[in-house]
Amino acid sequence: MTMQDSKSSSPGLGDSAPDFEAQTTHGMIRFSEWQAGRWVILFSHPADFTPVCTTEFVEFCHCSEFMKDRDVALLGCSVDSIYSHIAWIRDIESKFSVDVDFPVIADLDQAVSRKYGMISEPTSQTAPVRSVFFIDGEGTVRAVISYPPEVGRSFSEIKRVIEALQVVDRHGVSCPANWTKGEAVIVPPPKTTADAKQRSQDDELESKDWYLSHKKIED
Ligand code: BEZ
Repeated sequence: MTMQDSKSSSPGLGDSAPDFEAQTTHGMIRFSEWQAGRWVILFSHPADFTPVCTTEFVEFCHCSEFMKDRDVALLGCSVDSIYSHIAWIRDIESKFSVDVDFPVIADLDQAVSRKYGMISEPTSQTAPVRSVFFIDGEGTVRAVISYPPEVGRSFSEIKRVIEALQVVDRHGVSCPANWTKGEAVIVPPPKTTADAKQRSQDDELESKDWYLSHKKIED
């Protein structure tokens, strides 16, 4: 089977993140063991030593503390060699005064890229698009964002999605359009007529109608 024969299909939301073994800039890893119960942002970039990808790596470094504070591990991936990764990372660190402290997969045979549907063949048969997989501590894919090679990712959106997913899990709520941390969340709609009637009397809720109620949360 050639690389091109191996279909590239993305795991969907709620799927288990496919496990793999891969060479990275931090040595060989088995994904499930390396994850060790942490949230993971697994992201691909089209190629080392390209301009947009370089700006993105700098931004991943800038949000490294934010991610660590939320128990989120970053893991990069492209089909470049380990030597290319090392050279590019050294270049980024010296030119932008950042520390690329997360591992980057050298996916020369496209095994990881194809397992995660990072290669979108109408775009390129060889280079991954800019995928972002949000994987929770149980190894479940919770969100996926895909950007084309020509458009750099929004890091405010990546941070927003992580905070939203963690708030959803902690409080059993949903996050409205354009939600950011500190804003009111949405409580699940009532499932009985009695609960629907009760909604308007609940002082903790700000209800627009029986099916749309906001609530302030502490964190
Ligand atoms: C870039 O990172 O600048 C880039 C990479 C692949 C295609 C287009 C742009």
